[in-house]
Amino acid sequence: MLTGLPALGSGLGHRVELAEAIEAHADRIDWLEVITERYLFAPADECERLRELVRRFPVVPHGVELSIGSEGEPNAAYVEALAQLVADVDAPWFSDHLCFTRTDSVDVGLLVPLPRTREVARRLGRRARRVQEAVGRPFLLENITYYVDLAAPLTEAQFITEVMEHCECGLLLDLANLDINARNHGFDPLGFLDDIPLERVVQVHLAGGADGDGDAMSLDSHGAAIPDRVWDLLAELVSRTPVKATLVERDQDFPDDFGDLLAEVDRARAALRFRGSRTTRRPADRWVAQPAGGA
Ligand SMILES: [Fe+2]
Repeated sequence: MLTGLPALGSGLGHRVELAEAIEAHADRIDWLEVITERYLFAPADECERLRELVRRFPVVPHGVELSIGSEGEPNAAYVEALAQLVADVDAPWFSDHLCFTRTDSVDVGLLVPLPRTREVARRLGRRARRVQEAVGRPFLLENITYYVDLAAPLTEAQFITEVMEHCECGLLLDLANLDINARNHGFDPLGFLDDIPLERVVQVHLAGGADGDGDAMSLDSHGAAIPDRVWDLLAELVSRTPVKATLVERDQDFPDDFGDLLAEVDRARAALRFRGSRTTRRPADRWVAQPAGGA
């Protein structure tokens, strides 16, 4: 299902705060990612706004509440509405996170990391396969940040690889999350790239977070400019595998000048075009893994 996907280019996450600027600079943005839950079961005026976006851009729904890591069957009503949304916007793929957000009795409201065992990975892979089949378009799973790293049989990269072995889904590789996890938990992000099935990577997320200082951890805030470490990871990734689309994610502390975000969209597009110029760099100063709490 991942063969023949279109190359969308360089996109931007659609947010209410950015809506007017996106409209005014549509020629500078190749595609948009929208938050799935904003448009599931949405009122007519919201649906009309989405239709207007679809007339101008390729649109991809990106969810936060599927809870693919939960036990039991995926929520049938949610999956049915998701399939309808994906069809309505004619999305080439859709995405959600490698996590759970609810149990049978509690809606956690957060992206919670999963125990990294083969059993959980197999269960998640099977669920993801069923969701992909029900929706009828490729389903991309995104790596999340985690701030507590409990002892587990599998590394994060091994866990992701095990999930991929039990489904035909793709990966949405969030390079900011990779950078933050590597810094907070003291592993080499290039080693992570060595260990995951890169041929499954379809799309990339790029964002800036809050860098940890002293004992503080780095945080996935989506509220700052994309740091050089993340741009370097993008260059490394595209030197190793073709990537269909990049997406700049900004959720808060929006810059006064929208041109700052457009410059990031331009820079990501340029990185996609420079594919093939492999850097072959191994951990440089900025990539030397820091122990948890170090910066
Ligand atoms: Fe992301």
